[in-house]
Amino acid sequence: MSKHYNVAIDGPSGAGKSTIAKILSSRLNIVYLDTGALYRAVGLKAYRDGWAEDDGAVAGLIGSIDIRVGYDKETGKQHVYLGSEDVSEEIRKDFVSGYGSRFSALPSVRAALLSLQREIAAEHSSVLDGRDIGTFVLPDARFKFFLTASSDVRAARRYKELIARGQTADYEQVKRDIEERDFRDSTRAVAPLKKASDAIEIDSSELTADEVAEKMISIIRSQL
Ligand code: DC
Repeated sequence: MSKHYNVAIDGPSGAGKSTIAKILSSRLNIVYLDTGALYRAVGLKAYRDGWAEDDGAVAGLIGSIDIRVGYDKETGKQHVYLGSEDVSEEIRKDFVSGYGSRFSALPSVRAALLSLQREIAAEHSSVLDGRDIGTFVLPDARFKFFLTASSDVRAARRYKELIARGQTADYEQVKRDIEERDFRDSTRAVAPLKKASDAIEIDSSELTADEVAEKMISIIRSQL
């Protein structure tokens, strides 16, 4: 088998995808692409420029935005740029989540981000997390996982994360937002959140991030 490989991790928000993907990236020494960050960057641009949530209109605007991904040489941390502006922190703000989710449902947005994701995956052994990596972006990924957790557990994680970032948050609101996003991400017409038929499903509700990562790493190592 060739040494180049990709790992797809899909699942709803708060299932622990990014935490696990970061552990995999450092333990397996592969690149981590957080694809949600790309949709968030589009959401941020849409918010700032007051884009209408309309595929025809966005199709005419999306080509003008320059989204790039870079990696910190020392820490390996992913940075996302809109033009020359590093928006990595800004896109984590809670209001951007809704914009990212709504604009990610537009076919023109998904099409615009597809080649960037595929290029990075083709160039590097990598782990990509998102909603449609195993089903659509990388249907031939060597390893596919679908990570889930109950909505209570996911809301509690998101709440803790927001507080840790110094943002204000209300748990019930966070939970409602998560459930609303789940619904929107799973029911949209293009590339909805869905388990690939050949993905291994892992429920992280009762597991620590290290336990989940360990499961994945042992599966990956056994087949490399
Ligand atoms: O994983 P996240 O919460 O940062 O993602 C932000 C939004 O982007 C999420 O609501 C759904 C969307 N998304 C997507 O549609 N496809 C992906 N591969 C990744 C994220």
